[in-house]
Amino acid sequence: MASFFHTPVLTKEILNYLDLKKGGVYIDCTLGGGGHSKAILESIYPHGLLIGIDQDIEAIETAKEELKSYIDKVKLVKGNFKNLKGILSELKIETVSGIVFDLGVSFHQLKEKKRGFSFKEDSHLDMRMDLTQEFNADILINSYSEKELAEIFEKYGEERFSKRIARLIVTERKRKAVTTTKQLADLVVRSLPKAKKRHTWRIHPATRVFQAIRIEVNQELKALETGLNQAIRILEDKGRICVISYHSLEDRIVKHLFKEVEREGKDQGNYGLKIITKKPIRPSSEEVRDNLKARSAKLRVAEKIISIT
Ligand SMILES: C[S@@+](CC[C@H](N)C(=O)[O-])C[C@H]1O[C@@H](n2cnc3c(N)ncnc32)[C@H](O)[C@@H]1O
Repeated sequence: MASFFHTPVLTKEILNYLDLKKGGVYIDCTLGGGGHSKAILESIYPHGLLIGIDQDIEAIETAKEELKSYIDKVKLVKGNFKNLKGILSELKIETVSGIVFDLGVSFHQLKEKKRGFSFKEDSHLDMRMDLTQEFNADILINSYSEKELAEIFEKYGEERFSKRIARLIVTERKRKAVTTTKQLADLVVRSLPKAKKRHTWRIHPATRVFQAIRIEVNQELKALETGLNQAIRILEDKGRICVISYHSLEDRIVKHLFKEVEREGKDQGNYGLKIITKKPIRPSSEEVRDNLKARSAKLRVAEKIISIT
């Protein structure tokens, strides 16, 4: 299901693991172009309900069009999944049968020049998923201290040369503010030791720094932890949660939280999770061939268990 907006990843696997029930209520926490939502609706319609959430208004508008044939069974909400509980209580819904998270950015966000996520095109350093938010990558790069910059490059980009890169940014911005994606990418390359300046065919040297800035601007890891905790609470008995992540920082959070809730459930006999995927599910080689963006995807699935004792 290729799309100009975003080609959904691991769709067959998501449908399979969600174990869809007629009349079930499902939440797509990362609606994007509506690819996963549409696949869910194709299976449950005309029964059940699909709630689609995205903090990007452009995603909501695209998905509205994409899902228009199912509109009587769809509720779209522009919001952050860190507020999942509040979003559901606004809709007067207490529990749901299944929840999907497909993390990170959409193809549209990466490709759309004005969104400022990519160094492949020169544009204003923006990187906000939520266009109503004030804080953006430009503000971050020009206001964080050298130490703060180095810390986020290391923590969220796992960048070996974080200190050198931060130092050059701070020196350069005294002369001229760093406001474009190209300026920043060039600074990253300039700050690297000679042998590291060349890019391999897959990875541009600025990739990790851009990932780190994106995570910080959108507070992605904090939103993930909060959103996942709330999602587990609102699942009904035997409801399933499916999470697709694209880098190790996200995957680690999902893996640890699932394990922790599984263990707490066993210890306290209250509610818990059964981990369905002992190892993460990866896309097939055919899927990666057709959609290179899928290559780093990892799907983890767990099932809610109420009253373990
Ligand atoms: C990888 S795309 C999802 C693509 C979607 N599954 C599809 O089939 O088209 C991730 C989407 O999640 C949204 N997103 C990321 N973090 C979010 C958050 N904390 N709250 C709400 N939406 C978020 C992004 O704006 C983006 O549209």
